[in-house]
Amino acid sequence: MKVTLKVWRQKNATNKGHFETYEVNDANSHMSFLELMDVLNEQLEREGKEPIHFDHDCREGICGSCAMYINGRPHGPQRGTTACQLHMRHFKDGETITVEPWRAKAFPVIKDLMVDRSAFDRIIQAGGFISVNTGSAPDANEIPVPKDIADEAFNAATCIGCGACVAACKNASAMLFTSAKISQLALLPQGQVERQKRAERMIAQMDAEGFGACTNTLACSAECPKEIDMANIARMNREFLTAKASSDAV
Ligand code: SF4
Ligand code: FES
Repeated sequence: MKVTLKVWRQKNATNKGHFETYEVNDANSHMSFLELMDVLNEQLEREGKEPIHFDHDCREGICGSCAMYINGRPHGPQRGTTACQLHMRHFKDGETITVEPWRAKAFPVIKDLMVDRSAFDRIIQAGGFISVNTGSAPDANEIPVPKDIADEAFNAATCIGCGACVAACKNASAMLFTSAKISQLALLPQGQVERQKRAERMIAQMDAEGFGACTNTLACSAECPKEIDMANIARMNREFLTAKASSDAV
């Protein structure tokens, strides 16, 4: 199959950037979108041109690295799918596909499609951890957790930190990501030690990084490759209010 790619090229964080158009004539419908990018990069190298820089690691929908806008949507047109798991059969032969980096103040472009997502790491460092020793896996399983609560915690834990929620939001809000990380720990017994401070610290860091506020457009959840539920944002707000009420009372 043949596709035309309009790809955002940007030398570095200060360069203005622009679209460049490339033709790929030997794509096939079984390729993932990242394999298509590999084919294009091999082509560019053969022509003595600089390949397109983009992030990737697992290529299995696990690591959250493959951040890119494809035809105006984070991770492309397929719901609940990362760019590395998106196959070319979801595109038409002869189609023109536009590829851009995430656009958010807190995610500055490093080069081409690569953006700096270390703001997410700093939110985790601010409170997304537990300090108790949970022992080995059998020990941890000895703490009874009701099935429905365990399922909710597990669903929140499936967030891969890709940043598509930020990219999808008109305010570049990181509330879906932050709330998933807060929920995952707030729901489990092991997460109770830092529970009072976790929401306060992570939300303070999220604001300090320059992410916007949530205005309930639901775009984050609709574009999330792991379909993280908006209910996590409501839980995060409750966690924050409870922590504030108890810390203000001290
Ligand atoms: S909430 Fe979804 S879109 Fe946001 S970082 Fe996690 S997996 Fe990615
Ligand atoms: S490369 Fe790891 S999720 Fe896509």
